[in-house]
Amino acid sequence: MKIIQRLLVAAVGVLALAVPTAWAAGEYYKPNKHVWSWEGPFGTYDRGELQRGFLVYQQVCSACHGMEQLHLRNLGEQGGPFYLAEYPNANDNPIVRAIAAEYIVEDGPDEFGDMFERPGRPSDRFPYPYANQAQGRAANGGAYPPDFSVIVKARKQGPEYIRSLLLGYDYEPPDDLEVRPGNYYNPYFPGGLLAMAPQLQDDLIEYPDGAPATREQMAHDVVTFLAWASEPHMEARKRMGLMVMIYLLALAGLLYAAYRQVWSNVKH
Ligand code: HEC
Repeated sequence: MKIIQRLLVAAVGVLALAVPTAWAAGEYYKPNKHVWSWEGPFGTYDRGELQRGFLVYQQVCSACHGMEQLHLRNLGEQGGPFYLAEYPNANDNPIVRAIAAEYIVEDGPDEFGDMFERPGRPSDRFPYPYANQAQGRAANGGAYPPDFSVIVKARKQGPEYIRSLLLGYDYEPPDDLEVRPGNYYNPYFPGGLLAMAPQLQDDLIEYPDGAPATREQMAHDVVTFLAWASEPHMEARKRMGLMVMIYLLALAGLLYAAYRQVWSNVKH
């Protein structure tokens, strides 16, 4: 009994210590709920959202955030924003080739041992915005803009959190919080202060499909794109899961029929 008593006392002690520290660490808001087309066992990405989300990433976020684990050709693979059934090999996909060609990539060394620059190709990785991490930090007041390859998976409630964060700059900071130059108040960020300025304003970019580029729409689209980037093969995985379920159900039916057959002559 004594040991249980002691354990209880210890547990209460830990709680008493932990709860106020969590509160003191800064009041921050839970991410707002949001509906995504790709939720649930049958959810798929909306191609329009993916394409617009890529545009937001390309024109806004990619100035600071890399996506090192993705190649440009991923954009044209099945399930990707610019997949075309006529081009099963994404390296041949004309949209992806055009997107890649807009980038200048360092390559080499050539036969003289020199590095040279050339237009990007679908087989290149997404270009990295800085020469190295230290430069990324220096350009952002010491805070490193995290890589986006798996950011949606790397944060708790990733999609909702990133969306809320992007739209969460309109709050007044509490009186006792000092917001230094280079820092911005955003209650969705743990601690409330981050080194990223607000990024989205209405009509910041123009969507070629004519969708209104409101802040909400851009946040929704870019998060959808980042969710795809974190799991480019989600749709294939869900399809496979469905097929496995159907197979298992059919197998269960067969096994049940066989069981009935085998035991049909046994009298009780
Ligand atoms: C001018 C540079 C810059 C641009 C452009 C930019 N960010 Fe950031 N971002 C940062 C920096 C710096 C941080 C790190 C902030 C910190 O840790 O205080 C950051 C952090 C983040 C984080 C991580 C928050 C966390 O939990 O760690 C997310 C998500 C994010 N940015 C999303 C975006 C999106 C989406 C866009 C495009 C719409 C974008 N950013 C554009 C500089 C930028």
